[in-house]
Amino acid sequence: MMRVGFVGWRGMVGSVLMQRMQEERDFDLIDPVFFTTSQVGQNGPTIGKEIPTLKDATDITELAAMDVIISCQGGDYTKAVYPGLRESGWKGHWIDAASSLRMVDESVIVLDPVNGQQIRDKLANGGNLWVGGNCTVSLMLMGLGGLFEAGLVEWLSSMTYQAASGGGAKHMRELVNQMGQINAAVADKLADPASAILDIDRDVAAMIRSDELSTDNFGVPLAGSLIPWIDTQLENGQSREEWKGQAETNKILGVDKLIPVDGTCVRIGSMRCHSQAFTIKLTKDVPVDEIEQMLAEHNDWVKVVPNDRDQTMRDLTPAAITGTMTVPVGRLRKLNMGPEYLNAFSVGDQLLWGAAEPLRRMLRIILE
Ligand code: HSE
Repeated sequence: MMRVGFVGWRGMVGSVLMQRMQEERDFDLIDPVFFTTSQVGQNGPTIGKEIPTLKDATDITELAAMDVIISCQGGDYTKAVYPGLRESGWKGHWIDAASSLRMVDESVIVLDPVNGQQIRDKLANGGNLWVGGNCTVSLMLMGLGGLFEAGLVEWLSSMTYQAASGGGAKHMRELVNQMGQINAAVADKLADPASAILDIDRDVAAMIRSDELSTDNFGVPLAGSLIPWIDTQLENGQSREEWKGQAETNKILGVDKLIPVDGTCVRIGSMRCHSQAFTIKLTKDVPVDEIEQMLAEHNDWVKVVPNDRDQTMRDLTPAAITGTMTVPVGRLRKLNMGPEYLNAFSVGDQLLWGAAEPLRRMLRIILE
């Protein structure tokens, strides 16, 4: 059996990965070894089989004894350890959730329902660096894969509604804390049906703007508000999250002719589901029913939601999708701009298809 090392398995993405690997019985197929940056020698997680005690995640010799390493530890760890590990002569497979190696030539951004062929070709040619994609990009491609596969996307604009989880576990806690603080500020008035809504609104706004609101992680209020900037600022006016849209989409698809992708990435107060509103310029006029069929047939997880009010409100929301593998895509209709302009909206769990799932599936491909 292959020896598979895990680093960063205790964090949020790592924990989701552990859950999914247990659900899919992946551990039955490997000899897992758990690494730590702080608790060497202690017991590892309970995964239903015997495992060695925790090993040192900075020990190149221990790491080099692995056939495969899966890291959810973050980009700083990757930068600190990966070059030295390769310089030591290690030829194993490195599977990474962090973005630091995504755009290097030798890596493949893994999203096998979309680029499975590219992954298998690279594997057959000795590839050994596999990196999970940006969550927004991966979820967009899971939802719209059928259109890209048919060569129907001339360009695409994505306006995002991104969940707190994209920032990390502390950000999720902060969002819920903010919600609670806001509610607490007006709980008495809310309980009184005779209270004036403008009084409630004034007190809510006062709490959102007050120094009392917890904003250590987001830096500004998110509950009752939104943040139209995600990640760092680039010189061209894009946020880094917006830059990734085009760069990663084109790398994953491996297209010859660049497909322009751009839009505004916005943080909103959902917990772990990213949503996106798309304007898609098609390469030709194709009827909506054919588009729906292409999208639905592309992979086992995409679900076309008919452009109907009740079904959309029920099935095309973070509330409906959180914690599930389904990537619904709906609001499919032609825009006023003309028959080659398609509207679409998708939702997806940022921690599953957006982070952990492509990693465990890459391991399965290596094990095939
Ligand atoms: N950068 C994403 C976000 C998450 O902040 O929502 C990681 O892909």
